[in-house]
Amino acid sequence: MADVWQSAMDHAVAVARKAGQVVREAVQSVHKEAVMVKSSSVDLVTQTDQKVEKLIIQSVKEKFPKHSFIGEESVAAGEVCTLTDSPTWIIDPIDGTTNFVHTYPYVGVSIGFSVNKQVEFGVVYSCLQDQMFTARRGKGAFCNGEPLQVSNQQDIHQALIAAEFGSNRDVQTVEKIFSSLKKVVSIPVHGVRGAGSAAINMCLVASGCVEAYYEIGIHVWDIAAGSLIVSEAGGVLMDVAGGPLDLMSRRVLAANNQKVAERLVKEIDAFRPIRDDAPLTE
Ligand code: IPD
Repeated sequence: MADVWQSAMDHAVAVARKAGQVVREAVQSVHKEAVMVKSSSVDLVTQTDQKVEKLIIQSVKEKFPKHSFIGEESVAAGEVCTLTDSPTWIIDPIDGTTNFVHTYPYVGVSIGFSVNKQVEFGVVYSCLQDQMFTARRGKGAFCNGEPLQVSNQQDIHQALIAAEFGSNRDVQTVEKIFSSLKKVVSIPVHGVRGAGSAAINMCLVASGCVEAYYEIGIHVWDIAAGSLIVSEAGGVLMDVAGGPLDLMSRRVLAANNQKVAERLVKEIDAFRPIRDDAPLTE
């Protein structure tokens, strides 16, 4: 059967590379960027995020005019965030905006593509490191064309875990996040890290550098592409309370295997942020 989505994937890789070039140039003069805030004072956005999202969407629309979009900055500007069965491009123009603002080197352009609510391909371009991570459903995951494979570590005590804190700094939320983190550190695991980009954390799981990554508070555009890259590299995806990953739930656990994932589930306080697809309130 013809590979119907291959031309879309090729386009995603090309546009991610172009977007990455814009981000790389912008980082040279990032001190001149106006940094704006969204849901909280630590949820940042710059003109480069907005410019890069427009660039990606315009370029895709020219080639695939009937496709749908969920883009981080379009949703921030008031567009609906509903995942339907239509072919949908799920875009985070700069995953790791805080890193971008601080020139911390983990900055990803993340493009996922779903059909019937299933991710068909994922592209994460770690643009400051020139690493292009790609996955097609059923066809494996790659970095710069080299196949990726998750770690084969079974023992959580030998594991390196990536975790992030989301962007809600409300006291009760921060307490829950840190109580989970304390329990994970105390298992004990070898260590805890965080790249500051959900998409790149997932690529690190896929590459075998960390055994698992979890976070509560991410959004669908942070994880859509990375989720397929992890599963195609042989990893597992779960909700932080166990059970299947729900892309719109704002909770994710990606791991090298079921055993490591289930051990982490026991330590995580799985609170529920407002879903990405929750109806908008006045
Ligand atoms: C953020 C990053 C960060 C994660 C936040 C995300 P953004 O995405 O992925 O690692 O901790 O939850 O919102 O805002 O830089 O696209």
